[in-house]
Amino acid sequence: MIEFKNVSKVYDNNTVALKDFNLSISSGEFVFVVGASGAGKSTFLKLIMCEETPTSGIIIVNGQDLSSIRKKDIPYLRRTMGIVFQDFRIIDKMTVFENVAFAMHIIGASDREIRKRVPYVLGLVGLENKARRLPSELSGGEKQRVGLARALVNNPSMIIADEPTGNIDSSMSFEIVELLGEINKCGTTIVMVTHDLSIVKHFHFRTVEIGEGRVKNDTGLIRGDQK
Ligand SMILES: Nc1ncnc2c1ncn2[C@@H]1O[C@H](COP(=O)(O)OP(=O)(O)OP(=O)(O)O)[C@@H](O)[C@H]1O
Ligand SMILES: [Mg+2]
Repeated sequence: MIEFKNVSKVYDNNTVALKDFNLSISSGEFVFVVGASGAGKSTFLKLIMCEETPTSGIIIVNGQDLSSIRKKDIPYLRRTMGIVFQDFRIIDKMTVFENVAFAMHIIGASDREIRKRVPYVLGLVGLENKARRLPSELSGGEKQRVGLARALVNNPSMIIADEPTGNIDSSMSFEIVELLGEINKCGTTIVMVTHDLSIVKHFHFRTVEIGEGRVKNDTGLIRGDQK
């Protein structure tokens, strides 16, 4: 669950990125976040991930009030999130297998767990035959599937993705969102920022439009379960 109550974010240079922002996302939802450049979309995700702190207002993620979270607990909160980046952020010198294994290694998983889990997750994203490849031998869509496998490998309760299809062609983009849809069916909450309106139209997921730092439109409101 993600809840923003009257959240404002003013950056040090006085830019108002979010202003009295209210939004609640239940566990298991798939939400597209759209809006013009500079509207505050990435700021919204950074606040969820504790990469930024709000200037005012309340943010609750997985039952935890982020204003009272201790610094040492932030890595544990982040472990409940799988993060997918527009520019993939995979390590060029590591194979596909090693890239995904690394995410497990840093949270202290054993080699045995890693050997079992990584092939399973690579199978989920359709890369079971590319485990030994280097990123330079992959297409953009395949690189992003590595990014997705890495985000999934530690079994997060939510996936946070900032324009995950921003650097890949449109048919590959649809495949990535389809995969996210499959992951969502298994109960994982998905919050995905996108500029690609053809994707938004095609998939019929809840869509929140941010404009001038506020929620301008929310198709979730139609269901009447939001205030
Ligand atoms: N670290 C920062 N310091 C100061 N201002 C910032 C910072 N990050 C973002 N901003 C400003 O806050 C506003 C919202 O930025 P944000 O990155 O959230 O927009 P966005 O909706 O993600 O845009 P885009 O679609 O271009 O990615 C913009 O005016 C931006 O210039
Ligand atoms: Mg952005």
